[in-house]
Amino acid sequence: EQEKEERTYQPYTEIMSTLPKVRGFAPQHLYNHQGFWYTESNLPRVMAVQNHFIAHSSDILLATNPKCGTTWLKSLIFAICNRKLHPSTQHPLLTVNSHQLVPFLELLYTNNEIPDLDILPSPRLLATHIPYSSLPQSVLDSGCPLVYMCRNPKDTFVSWWHFLNKISNKELKPSTLEEAFEMFCNGASIVGPFWDHVLDYWRASLDRPQCVMFLKYEEMQAETIVHVKRLAKFVRCPFSLEEEKEGVVDEIIRLCSYENLSRLEVNKTGEAMFGENEIKFHTFFRKGKVGDSSNYLTAEMTERLDRISEQKFHGYGLTL
Ligand code: A3P
Repeated sequence: EQEKEERTYQPYTEIMSTLPKVRGFAPQHLYNHQGFWYTESNLPRVMAVQNHFIAHSSDILLATNPKCGTTWLKSLIFAICNRKLHPSTQHPLLTVNSHQLVPFLELLYTNNEIPDLDILPSPRLLATHIPYSSLPQSVLDSGCPLVYMCRNPKDTFVSWWHFLNKISNKELKPSTLEEAFEMFCNGASIVGPFWDHVLDYWRASLDRPQCVMFLKYEEMQAETIVHVKRLAKFVRCPFSLEEEKEGVVDEIIRLCSYENLSRLEVNKTGEAMFGENEIKFHTFFRKGKVGDSSNYLTAEMTERLDRISEQKFHGYGLTL
């Protein structure tokens, strides 16, 4: 059995040896697959997802570019979908990190194994960083709701830089801000180019608004109630008027807030394996603010990122 499964992954390693490779804004080399950059350890998993994952129409998928608020979105979706099961005083989010409650799809394809995901309870809540155009066809065919959250590239970049430096070790050298910035602008970041990833989902949300919801971290921060209600409706768990009156929406927002989650013991001291990296949960909580990048980027850097956004998004009606 093991041998059979290893054979399944063998072609991916062979394909990878033929792909363009760069030293990217990541702790490892990056490989280009279908226009996007992946780490050496993640790409075989992404290929396995593409070949083996069968989506169900009842699934709820959540997609992000790393550092765009994945931890928050996972918490919100989990809390929204499971609100009837859990009283707020004993909620799983109080003792378990949201990355364990809503796993990354690609990370389930680990150790050369093809997991049986049909055994997961319905609806399956799964997250991914895979770009829209590289999702398995079955996701598109299933018509399952797909929620995408993006964030302005300045805060995303600064958040990434801090994150990578925190998880770096002897083999994985940290980059200076300037080095990392160059690579990010050139598109060489995990699932980068950042702008292409965003545009991929933005266009999908325009083409198939019933299946793809596009959220912005900044809007979510500014008008959390409005967007949490939209989100609940989109994932087919709308709040009733009664629930709204009883304050259920506010309670979920409070439970999932940066202030609440970041102070919990599990998120202060807990850790888990993400593929082959052991990551402490506190690295997913840094400041949780909009605009913190202005404390790190020079005026020239800000201007450069703004210019790339203008060029890349020109004609698509998207601003970040
Ligand atoms: P900062 O580094 O700017 O603080 P991801 O979850 O995709 O890895 O993104 C991490 C970013 O989201 C970090 O941004 C983190 O602080 C912020 N974040 C984590 N939990 C949050 C929450 N509950 N509400 C708002 N922002 C949150």
